[in-house]
Amino acid sequence: MAKSSKRIRRSPRQTQANPRRGAHGDGISRVISERLRTEEDLRQSREKYARMIHASPDAITLRTLPDRRYLEVNEGFCRMTGYRAEEVLGKTSAELHVWADPEERRGTVETILRQGEIHEEEFRFRTKAGEIRFGQLAAVRVVVGDQLCILSVTRDITARKQAEEELRRSEANFRSLVEDAPFGILQITLEGRILQANPALVRMLGYDSEAELCKLDMTRDVYQDPKQRQRLIAEHWQKDEFHNVEVPWKRKDGKFITAMLNGRRVTGHAPAYYEVFAEDITERRVLERQLLQSQKMEAIGRLAGGVAHDFNNLLGVVLGHTEILEEYASRDFRLHKSIEAIQNATRRASALTMQLLAFSRKQVVAPRILDLNAAAREIEKLLHRVIGEDIGLILRLHPHVSAIRMDPGQLDQVLMNLVVNARDAMPNGGKLILETGDVTLEEPYVGQHLGAATGSFVLLSISDTGCGMDQETLSHIFEPFFTTKEKGKGTGLGLSTVYGHR
Ligand SMILES: Nc1ncnc2c1ncn2[C@@H]1O[C@H](COP(=O)(O)OP(=O)(O)OP(=O)(O)O)[C@@H](O)[C@H]1O
Ligand SMILES: [Mg+2]
Repeated sequence: MAKSSKRIRRSPRQTQANPRRGAHGDGISRVISERLRTEEDLRQSREKYARMIHASPDAITLRTLPDRRYLEVNEGFCRMTGYRAEEVLGKTSAELHVWADPEERRGTVETILRQGEIHEEEFRFRTKAGEIRFGQLAAVRVVVGDQLCILSVTRDITARKQAEEELRRSEANFRSLVEDAPFGILQITLEGRILQANPALVRMLGYDSEAELCKLDMTRDVYQDPKQRQRLIAEHWQKDEFHNVEVPWKRKDGKFITAMLNGRRVTGHAPAYYEVFAEDITERRVLERQLLQSQKMEAIGRLAGGVAHDFNNLLGVVLGHTEILEEYASRDFRLHKSIEAIQNATRRASALTMQLLAFSRKQVVAPRILDLNAAAREIEKLLHRVIGEDIGLILRLHPHVSAIRMDPGQLDQVLMNLVVNARDAMPNGGKLILETGDVTLEEPYVGQHLGAATGSFVLLSISDTGCGMDQETLSHIFEPFFTTKEKGKGTGLGLSTVYGHR
């Protein structure tokens, strides 16, 4: 130990030989030699302890009380702080600014004075170069000679602290990765108990908190059909992982969503559980279906339009020739009848092809600025006649509806189609409501409705209290020739014409 002028004497008895030995006559030389041996032992012992103290990687210091001046410091202290012993002996730690936080120092000293010792006290110290490091201090109050002192041992725990901080930071990072993930992440037992869930999953299923979600029985409360989860487990439990499994899930509000699951089995713990990543792909599936639908409609439209165009021209030729024939056959009554039948059939065929042309938007149009309310009122009488007495017609025309630009013939055609459909859906009577008004279309409506675009529009809506449509019918209504009506009752061209007039 680097020494100051003072010497430590832990106990006077340690440095004295037994005085009784001197009482036996020939014993003096023995006593002296024993004493010399004892002193030699002591010296060796001191050296041994001094070496141990020097070799210690910890900083060991002896300071006076109450002024806390350094009496002795070991090499560990010099290595740890960067000071040479001469630089610190006789000075106080406050003068050297060894403690990074003087408040901390004051508190620690008070504890030592009060309790006599302190253990595992963590503090921050400043090296000679100004670097702030972490130390762990053990100190005890001792008496050296007549001097009250503090003997303290400080271990440099900076590396451990940094590792702890690093761990804390990486844990926080991982936590935020899970907390902020756009995908639902959950841990779930085989039985369907949620152990942990992130906020994205809570949102996806429409609950208020993770705690609320953890009370659920996934199998019973979230799966549309509980058997479905059991089937999935039976299918995937033998594998370590599962990928892109699509399941219908039920939200708290009762709505169904399509979830895409990826996950793995974790069996090292009890209970074994699944780690699952869930993505809500409901909207994606809707968009895909719509894209498919619009591609299908486009293909049909191109085909129908192409055929109808040429077909209509050919019908023109047929009609022309029947007129010529009519002239030649003027005197033959039977021939005349047949020619008339050909003409009627050709005209009907031509009307049909016109509807096909309307669907494929190849019809010649003559748009004008129209007042939708006025047009609806004009056609009202006609509509009454079409729907009959069992059906009540209710007009809800918004007083301030914007003007539209449309072919009036097309408007009548569309209106009539929709009204006749409603009538057909209500064979036992009901209500038909015709509404007009201005609307602004936005997402997500536009994304979910084929052919819709964002912006301001005029709405013409026709609703009825009839039989309605199932999903399958709904997915086909705009296709030409799609009809659920019996033969001869419907051609299936009504709504495809409506579609064409978009
Ligand atoms: N208001 C409605 N209620 C219930 N189902 C409807 C309604 N409107 C249309 N549909 C269904 O959509 C199908 C297609 O309608 P669309 O108007 O295109 O053809 P249609 O009425 O069958 O024949 P067309 O109009 O050519 O005489 C109908 O057959 C029916 O199944
Ligand atoms: Mg119809």
